[in-house]
Amino acid sequence: MEVVIAADADTVAEIAARIMIRAVTERPSAVLGLATGTTPLATYAHVVAAHRAGDLTLSAARAVLLDEYIGLPPDHPQTYRSTIRRVFTEQTDLPPDHVHGPNVWSTDLVAACASYESLLTELGGVDLQLLGIGTDGHIGFNEPGSSLMSRTRVKTLTATTRTDNARFFSNQDDVPHHVVTQGLGTILEARQILLLATGSRKSDAVARAIEGPLAARCPASVLQLHPHVTVLVDDHAADRLELADYYREIQATKEL
Ligand code: PGA
Repeated sequence: MEVVIAADADTVAEIAARIMIRAVTERPSAVLGLATGTTPLATYAHVVAAHRAGDLTLSAARAVLLDEYIGLPPDHPQTYRSTIRRVFTEQTDLPPDHVHGPNVWSTDLVAACASYESLLTELGGVDLQLLGIGTDGHIGFNEPGSSLMSRTRVKTLTATTRTDNARFFSNQDDVPHHVVTQGLGTILEARQILLLATGSRKSDAVARAIEGPLAARCPASVLQLHPHVTVLVDDHAADRLELADYYREIQATKEL
């Protein structure tokens, strides 16, 4: 894994945006795996700025979501499809019908999960997958205990995740209990993965993901198996990395 420790959250966002912009510049029809949550917002803002400056078109790119809540009406502002359109794609020229997510409104969720997997295959797979990490070590909504080979499926959220996400709802009881998420096996098929983490709240999960054992207890640890992962963290999120000095030393020799 490539571990990059940046001085602060804005530098994390700048570097992450550069990596996204490069992916689309090299391949205008890139399939971008997008994450919701607070962490990637600053990255999206930098990509939007590049688009507004005329340096980037996303007109041929595709956006695929990692996950979606079950039980919210389709027009609810906190669905991940609405969120990603609002915070990112609508501010660019990425066509609205190029934003894809699992159909959690289907009456047959098992079939909907299978058809999302098929769609990812039809699109040719994900070129660049952006990930956040939960304080419990989840990626997507693969909570602790998730099979490391899992595919897109229904999951139940942990109390920790529902508490973490309560800030997006008027009260904690409104946070859905269930979601559809790409599985860990699905995520691993992306050609390149970029995991972002900022702030000391994430330092424990980051250390377990990068330096801990490969274990379903910390789903993000599965990224240790992927050949092209960049973990991009700020100083606070890197706080518990035992090999931080080593990562900094390697990083000093690279151009990001
Ligand atoms: P956050 O969420 O970026 O809002 O901290 C990350 C996650 O739960 O995956």
